[in-house]
Amino acid sequence: QRGVFTYDPGFTSTASCESKLTYIDGDAGVLLHRGYPIDQLAEQSTFMEVAYLLLNDELPNAEELDRFTYTISRHTMVHEQLATFFRGFRRDAHPMAIMCGVVGALSSFYHDSTDITDPRQRMIASHRLIAKMPTLAAMAYKYSVGQPFLYPDNTLSYPGNFLRMTFGVPAEKYEVDPLIEQAMDRIFILHADHEQNASTSTVRLAGSSGANPFACIAAGIACLWGPAHGGANEAALNMLREIGRPERIPEYIARAKDKDDPFRLMGFGHRVYKNYDPRAKVMQKTANEVLDKLGVTDPVFDVARELEQIALKDDYFVEKKLYPNVDFYSGVILSAIGFPTSMFTVLFALARTVGWVAQWNEMIADPDQKIGRPRQLYVGPTQRDYVPLDKR
Ligand code: SDX
Repeated sequence: QRGVFTYDPGFTSTASCESKLTYIDGDAGVLLHRGYPIDQLAEQSTFMEVAYLLLNDELPNAEELDRFTYTISRHTMVHEQLATFFRGFRRDAHPMAIMCGVVGALSSFYHDSTDITDPRQRMIASHRLIAKMPTLAAMAYKYSVGQPFLYPDNTLSYPGNFLRMTFGVPAEKYEVDPLIEQAMDRIFILHADHEQNASTSTVRLAGSSGANPFACIAAGIACLWGPAHGGANEAALNMLREIGRPERIPEYIARAKDKDDPFRLMGFGHRVYKNYDPRAKVMQKTANEVLDKLGVTDPVFDVARELEQIALKDDYFVEKKLYPNVDFYSGVILSAIGFPTSMFTVLFALARTVGWVAQWNEMIADPDQKIGRPRQLYVGPTQRDYVPLDKR
């Protein structure tokens, strides 16, 4: 079944795109990347393998993976002038505000990979974005805590390089913890791509005009930031912390069900999944493993598990088919690793850049691709004549 996405808001206009990248069955809770189930990829492959799979048609063999990983590692550094760009932000700027700015600014540094008509340049731009996102994300974090930027160390793995640039300091040797490295890699895989979600559709729409890939990814980052989308991981952990204790859960469940209360359970519900988000299952399992092995007992995790149990038995959530999504447990792991909540959506954007560039490449490579132009159902006034100011 080719993944055919048809959006019909209930009237004439439909916008559809065909894609071979990701298939979701929302009722069955199935997510496949080029046919491979997400739980198998998350537990048996690496983020570099999944990145290769999404950018090409097949999983790489050992030689292809080595070459791809080496290619990505050649692009991990950013132009030195970009570092000064960070210093223009207030120290308390939200890291997602910084990422929107600096990723868009990449288009002013890499003119040799903005010609979208050249497949070779498109792939160089894609490799640059995948390679530089961890460096930029780590720089956004370092800037927020007033520590010096660290250059990439290409002897490390993709997640290991990111962890060292984020948590390492020049004064000490940073040892990458294999457990954290594996958890980070798995979290990246779980966020890599997800069909035509809001931010991916933003990247496709921006790209359909011929905009350069760096600007398109910056547009995707801006869209992902919203609390209804990628910003939900930050909002979910803040909500769990606000609940604080299992005995306060009923109060929040009641608020979530109250039509007059704008409060929603963050990390619950989905536009497509009307069953358990398969990524949430792997995320909960990973949270268990990481907290156990780190010896972390985070009361927030107990609140999350208790909240899930209560909600899944509540008629409101059952009738409306609301289940935990990818954002419900991710914050528990990221917090245990040491990330502040303000970095959660940055990590989502870091990983989703693989899906965004793969979807962008797939669209641009289509010779029949046209500029996106959603239509509307006009419900405003019918035609009427102008009324001069002195007659109003
Ligand atoms: C992501 O699209 C993707 O693929 C996105 C994503 C990806 O990988 O790219 O999966 C990532 O964005 C996951 C979603 C993260 N967002 C949140 O966790 C925020 C909390 N969830 C919601 O705000 C909500 O569930 C949405 C935005 C995700 C979906 O909202 P919809 O489209 O309104 O959901 P729906 O149509 O299924 O809602 C059915 C009913 C509605 O009530 P009624 O109008 O029928 O009375 O359920 C209610 C909603 O109000 N509802 C909730 C709820 N989510 C939906 N009620 C309480 N708590 C919630 N979380």
